[in-house]
Amino acid sequence: MSLKDQLIIDRLPQHVAIIMDGNGRWAKKRGNSRVFGHKHGVTAVREVTEASAELGIKYLTLYAFSTENWNRPKLEVDALMALLVTTISSETETLMKNNVRLNTIGCKESLPSSVRNKLDTCIAETSVNSGMTLTLALSYSSRWEIVEAIKEITKDVKDSVLNSEDITAETVSNYLSTSSIPDPELMIRTSGEYRISNFLLWQLAYSELYFSDILWPDFRKEDYYAALIDYQGRERRFGKTGEQINVK
Ligand code: FPP
Repeated sequence: MSLKDQLIIDRLPQHVAIIMDGNGRWAKKRGNSRVFGHKHGVTAVREVTEASAELGIKYLTLYAFSTENWNRPKLEVDALMALLVTTISSETETLMKNNVRLNTIGCKESLPSSVRNKLDTCIAETSVNSGMTLTLALSYSSRWEIVEAIKEITKDVKDSVLNSEDITAETVSNYLSTSSIPDPELMIRTSGEYRISNFLLWQLAYSELYFSDILWPDFRKEDYYAALIDYQGRERRFGKTGEQINVK
């Protein structure tokens, strides 16, 4: 039986988040520049996007560029920004074909106008789609997002829009950039690194974590199915006991 056939369709996660890691090492192993690895990473982006849409997963969030990535050599940052522009242009058709809506989280203002313009065009064009929402985390970090949320909450308390006594975990979720998206049930990180790296810290509170040794440019649908099968074997307890969860 193929890996895809082993999936239990009504027990798939609604939301999968992925830290795409290992592009640089993949390129280095081939004696090439890091940018070569990023370019090949686009194939893996296409694979997981298509596989998610085909399976009926509602939300896919990809960590494409972190706040900390701005500290990389200018040549690499510029190449990544250029790659984003070309990829968004070339992949819009695939997004339309797969009924995928594009979304972004992160500090959009810090992105070059060429990237912002392409994103805005693609977001507008794909907004008619009703299938999956593909969210690209760009110039994103979780601590940045939480600080922004605290600033907004403080402002609303000051303006009497919000009563500080009424603030709950749900209130905080509603002030995050992911307010319209359910928390991920599954977070995948490739390349054998076991870190969260400032990604969706609040939202991953109860997510299942899956770490793959595969370098991102080599990640294919089969590897994604393997992660989903592993997820389906987990018992999600949310702080309760196994016995409480298994009561029929
Ligand atoms: C991490 O690998 C990867 C990134 C910082 C960039 C991810 C970008 C892409 C996959 C290409 C474009 C994406 C989209 C959504 C169009 P790394 O460079 O940290 O690898 P290393 O850990 O081996 O150095």
